[in-house]
Amino acid sequence: MLQTMGGNPKNFNKLDLKRLPSPCFVIDKIALQNNLEILFELKKETNIKILIALKAFSTFSLADLISEYLDGACCSGLYEAKLANKYFKGEISTYSPAFKKDEFDEISKISDHIIFNSFNQINTFYDISKKFNNEVGVRINPLYSEVEINKYSSAGISSRLGVHLKDLITYDIDKIDGIHFHSLCEQNFKPLENTWNELKNSLTPLITNIKWINLGGGHHITRKDYQLNELKYFLKKVSNETNCQIYIEPGEAVVLDSGILVGEILDFFKPSNPLSPNIAITDISATSHIPDVIEAPYRPALLNEPDKGHKIILGGPSCLAGDIIGEYNFNDIPKIGERIALLDQAHYTMVKTSFFNGVKLPSIAIWDSETDDLEIIKSFSFKDFENRLS
Ligand SMILES: Cc1ncc(COP(=O)(O)O)c(C=O)c1O
Repeated sequence: MLQTMGGNPKNFNKLDLKRLPSPCFVIDKIALQNNLEILFELKKETNIKILIALKAFSTFSLADLISEYLDGACCSGLYEAKLANKYFKGEISTYSPAFKKDEFDEISKISDHIIFNSFNQINTFYDISKKFNNEVGVRINPLYSEVEINKYSSAGISSRLGVHLKDLITYDIDKIDGIHFHSLCEQNFKPLENTWNELKNSLTPLITNIKWINLGGGHHITRKDYQLNELKYFLKKVSNETNCQIYIEPGEAVVLDSGILVGEILDFFKPSNPLSPNIAITDISATSHIPDVIEAPYRPALLNEPDKGHKIILGGPSCLAGDIIGEYNFNDIPKIGERIALLDQAHYTMVKTSFFNGVKLPSIAIWDSETDDLEIIKSFSFKDFENRLS
């Protein structure tokens, strides 16, 4: 099980959950802005560029706010690049494990950086990229990772993501403008430094003409215990030593602890068998609304959960037996209609929901924790479900 790193309630215990439709994702604009200020300060002190990874958070209603602080967006393909082009300001950097021929012209036209996953893909698309004035990068596999869960470790010897460093030597590196690697996941500073130390002696002699190095995402920079000063020193050092523009492309760190998912208790039952747990069914579905809970897996933190109390399994309304959010402590037996809120639910949630079982999707709301202003910016209906099918 992945350890839950987020879960700081920030100001969410001041929000009246009854003001919201249920279920509902709520983003606190102020918490987001505080994260953006940390990232902006980092940019100012180190001259690096920061792109938001849209794969984690694509809520385009907040694009203007995000664009005031960051340098652009990191995209995973055509749709994210189009979203970035339509709503976000600044640079567009698009990386995909493999681009498709019939999409590439459109991607190339709106992207500034194109990052390829293999030499084969560079050879296929290089001329088109240059026609549209893209700077061309290659993703390398540093073959070093401190990520313990295999699913999230992209730097294994048989990973499909990135070119092995020793294979870079065999390529005409002068064709390439930038180097990219992404091998962190929710990590503090040390694993980044360790990765760079593993790479730098082999990499730096090869990249004398390279313009930029993109250090990917997975940096948990906005977490309270993040070693920000060490990161600043490191980034200045790497940029001096390599003479390259340094980029990072965090997703989680941009919106860490700035969103919750509000739900409602639909039913509660206490089986007569003393070995069976107490169960509450909610209108939050782990599988449809927050699939990382099952995929990672991890147990999201619950707003105002006491250290001790009645142990209750919270489950979703779908027919999947494993649609379980987790086991939680409650001061009192939950009442039907009672509201609950799962913490740190802005990233890898709204971008990953599905209509499995026809379960209603959570609405999306923006809240200002300073003024208490609340705006429901999106609601979903039967029509949205129907439109997904035919
Ligand atoms: C290539 C790349 N860049 C950036 C990110 C963003 O990572 P995070 O949201 O952990 O910061 C990811 C996440 O998987 C990624 O694959």
